[in-house]
Amino acid sequence: MKALILSGGRGTRLRPLTYTGAKQLVPVANQPILWYGIEAIAAAGITDIGIIISPETGPEIQAQTGDGSRFGVRITYILQPRPEGLAHAVKIAQPFLGDAPFIMYLGDNLIEDSLGQFLSKFSQQDLDALILLRAVPNPTAFGVARVDEQGCLLQLVEKPAVPPSNLALVGVYFFNSTIHQAIAQIQPSARGELEITDAIQVLIDRQASVQAMQLSGWWLDTGKKDDLLEANRTILDSKLTPRIETAVDARSQILGRVRIGPGTKLIDCCVRGPAIIGANCHLENCFIGPHSSIADGVTIIGTDIDDSVILQNAKIINIPQRIVDSVIGQRACLAIAPRRPKALRFMVGDDCQIDLML
Ligand code: G1P
Repeated sequence: MKALILSGGRGTRLRPLTYTGAKQLVPVANQPILWYGIEAIAAAGITDIGIIISPETGPEIQAQTGDGSRFGVRITYILQPRPEGLAHAVKIAQPFLGDAPFIMYLGDNLIEDSLGQFLSKFSQQDLDALILLRAVPNPTAFGVARVDEQGCLLQLVEKPAVPPSNLALVGVYFFNSTIHQAIAQIQPSARGELEITDAIQVLIDRQASVQAMQLSGWWLDTGKKDDLLEANRTILDSKLTPRIETAVDARSQILGRVRIGPGTKLIDCCVRGPAIIGANCHLENCFIGPHSSIADGVTIIGTDIDDSVILQNAKIINIPQRIVDSVIGQRACLAIAPRRPKALRFMVGDDCQIDLML
């Protein structure tokens, strides 16, 4: 059994963060999204992992993720020159996959359920494909399944205008080598991509053994800002183990589950968990509220923050109102200009979103 993680694409829905970096490296609870997938695959006992990368963000993914040894796996990077669809990614990975059965895992998806139970069903029943489904309120944003009364899969449609059900296709799939013949038969969709849903539909039409299982735990597709914040809340709630690796001054207070990395200075602060603060940060006279993730090297002075994700080396200084539900990019600087306290002065990149609730 092998695994194929798809970590290409342009991440347009997470702009502006993805102008300068891969969406799969955006951190959730201070760890790149992609690494949760690698950990889940390693936990299922699979050690041979291919990662599909794009020319734009591949080198950064490779540099940060490495050869897999830190996860106890072996990673092979496979370049997809253009984002031509999920089935196209499988096609170019064929030399790596050979005839092996494999898990295909979309690098921006996070699921709570462990992969083991699905893998056992797939292997024990010798299935051609096993897909995972989850009821969602907005099925038009996903691949959607039509199932009969017994839960048998009848049809899959990609991003339908009129969805046949509320069951979305989760970005984790199990295939054996028959998927390669199915992919060879499909044509690009209206959006110009080779869709994996179309290839699975070929298997269904051929009466191959394709089954679906519904997830019982949460599923997070971190494609957009609010999804990212929800993923951050969920991971902090469910997975954060508290650990304070720095000295905290006598005037600071740490409440609840909090993790703080080495070299971080806390002066006159209150941190209320679940929250994570990375290494080498400078936090002074501030309140860090629940569901905040502060990456390494961040400076926050005289500011209160709640429910937000702050990326590496950002600076936030003397903002008089609490910052909530926010994602602040690497090296971004938010500050009140000392001489003109009533003025707002911006240097804001393309596609940024600023909501001032004054
Ligand atoms: C892809 C798949 C879609 C699936 C979704 C899950 O969509 O095409 O069927 O439901 O991932 O994350 P994309 O995120 O590429 O729009």
